[in-house]
Amino acid sequence: MDNQKNVYLVKNILAIDALNHLRDQTTNTVQFRHYSDTVCRFVFSEAVQTVKTKQSEISTPLEKISVDQIEDEIIVISILRAGMAMLYGAMQLLPKIKIGFVGLERDESTAIAKEYYWKLPVINKGALILIIDPMLATGGSMLHVIKKLQEQKAREIRIVSVIASPEGIATIHHTFPQVAIYTAVIDRELNNRKYILPGLGDYGDRYFGTV
Ligand code: PRP
Ligand code: URA
Repeated sequence: MDNQKNVYLVKNILAIDALNHLRDQTTNTVQFRHYSDTVCRFVFSEAVQTVKTKQSEISTPLEKISVDQIEDEIIVISILRAGMAMLYGAMQLLPKIKIGFVGLERDESTAIAKEYYWKLPVINKGALILIIDPMLATGGSMLHVIKKLQEQKAREIRIVSVIASPEGIATIHHTFPQVAIYTAVIDRELNNRKYILPGLGDYGDRYFGTV
């Protein structure tokens, strides 16, 4: 995993292999969901490696031991629709997370995201927020969510994505350099329709079969 200006890349051949399948245009919906689940678990897992832990004691059938346990209150905010693809793995890895949903859709002609839904759990002081959305393209959707979260008392906000563009990363870090971005890969650039190149096309459409 590389640390370049608060961007963390997953360096795992299984994640890269899954991503290769996602990129392949011949990958069908069933396969896309399968490989999406794999790569999403890897990036989510990386994003929680540095959560706060505390020592506590548990008893095995044979003796007592002192163990590290997750102390942080972790809130996952899924950006609809494509964020749903990351949520299943997140819930399995960390069943205790609280979950919020934000509905955003980019206008096809302007690529500007419009909000259609906003429902968050109570965010306590000191909570760690992970915003999940597989594609960080212009960064407009993420920026919208992070700006609105500024009123909350969370200790830290992290972004978890699958593919990030250099433009999206720059947009987020121009305003919020303290927000760490966890992703499987940084792709080359955006095209004139603000799609990521080489990318994988429209994540939501391919995941939900709406192509
Ligand atoms: C896609 C993607 C992100 C957003 C990224 O969603 O899932 O939410 O675009 O683009 P940005 O960084 O330029 O804002 P889309 O608007 O296609 O909606 P969907 O998830 O419902 O398909
Ligand atoms: N959203 C996607 O699903 N794909 C892109 O390339 C850009 C935004």
